[in-house]
Amino acid sequence: MKLRNFFALFLSLVLLMGLNGCAPGANSSSALITVKLKKTQELNTRAAAYWSESKKPQQIGEPVSVVEYAAPFSYGLQYPKTGYQSVDDMIAQAVAERRAAFDKKYLLPENLPESGKPSADTALFLRYETYLTEDGNLSLVLFEREEPADAAPVTQLYILHYDLAAGTAQKPEDLMWERFRENASAYTQKYFLETEPYKKGLFGDYKKTLASDSSTFDRFALTDDGVLFYFEPYQLFPGSYGLVRLIIPYEDMRAKAAPPQAAPDIAGFDAEKPMVALTFDDGPNPRNTGAILDTLEQYNAVATFFDLGSLVERYPAVVQREIALGCEVGSHSYNHKDFKKLSNAEISNDVKAVSRAFQSAIGQEPTLFRPPYGNTNQRVNGQIPMPLVLWSVDTLDWKSRNATSVMAAVKKAGNLDGKVILMHGIYESSAEATAQLVPYLLEEGYQLVTVSQLIEAKYGETPQPSKLYGYDYFQ
Ligand code: NI
Repeated sequence: MKLRNFFALFLSLVLLMGLNGCAPGANSSSALITVKLKKTQELNTRAAAYWSESKKPQQIGEPVSVVEYAAPFSYGLQYPKTGYQSVDDMIAQAVAERRAAFDKKYLLPENLPESGKPSADTALFLRYETYLTEDGNLSLVLFEREEPADAAPVTQLYILHYDLAAGTAQKPEDLMWERFRENASAYTQKYFLETEPYKKGLFGDYKKTLASDSSTFDRFALTDDGVLFYFEPYQLFPGSYGLVRLIIPYEDMRAKAAPPQAAPDIAGFDAEKPMVALTFDDGPNPRNTGAILDTLEQYNAVATFFDLGSLVERYPAVVQREIALGCEVGSHSYNHKDFKKLSNAEISNDVKAVSRAFQSAIGQEPTLFRPPYGNTNQRVNGQIPMPLVLWSVDTLDWKSRNATSVMAAVKKAGNLDGKVILMHGIYESSAEATAQLVPYLLEEGYQLVTVSQLIEAKYGETPQPSKLYGYDYFQ
């Protein structure tokens, strides 16, 4: 019953009481109605108390409240309406399934009260919490409490995931990333062993519950601050600890499989003198990347190439020459998809495919990652086991396709010390621009360095995996 309907019933109760007052000894059917209304009122109070246990604020949606004192059982259910139709349909379906499972369970002969008949004092309560991440992932946490008429309550917790923009449900494994379980396992064990009041209540078999291959870490919510895990009473601690929540920050959940980045070689560069990094995306291209490499070789200069894994497979000799000339080679993804639109599992697959292509072509991993379109966010950064690099001077070479315009764009940028220049290695005009730009920059007194060398020598930092070196960094 919706709350609005309840108030209508409440009004009729008041009216009935008034009638009873006028006509003492009212018939038994109105007495029954009075009992039912009183029970409904009690149920409303119990449901409201249960619902208020949910953590606020809910990050999306308005609550739908259902209170029914009815045969065979009673229900006090609250769940969200997000305004996204297909997601709301799936949520309503999930709630209907919980309710059907409850009915089925408590109609079993062994669960009926002593009277042998289902009792409306057996009640199901449902409440929820919602978490919404910046990229539109909704984690819906459903808390369920079964209150049998004459047995102890039973509580359970379910977590459902939805992609709001796509209007689809997501499986937890689609949202996990490389070393997700391993990192969660290591973090929770350390945290609960070292932190009061948990360390003195931790059950002896905690290692089994918190093992990376246990189902414990299948159940999580993604929040703005990190990955939220719930531990139910008696799962890890005595019942007096209640429900335990733990948020693990994303930086602690990030893949750490990649070895720490080695410091790039900056011998031969003078950190006091101006330096600039040229970068070329979307290659390799045998002809135009080849011409760019000719120029670099002629002037004994280096640049950074952000290559596509699919083209690295096709033109390994070009990438081998990039390495041979002392250039840096980073990943620009396997085939230029927008990473903000990829699931964590898809990102992980891309990283693996690019790694295979690089290993096969040059026997080493890409040292950097430049997201296609420069599109990334905190979630994506967390999935990438390489430093993420954007740029600070955009030549718009892909748009002008004109060497003179590229030169003009660079000159317009003013002082280039510490900057990263964006170009594309696949256009003839960009190769022509490079043939003018390299001698120009050298004449102006700039040292040409790779991006990793720039971060190390100019900014005094060894590039870190999963960290974004964005537009503002290279100013
Ligand atoms: Ni690109």
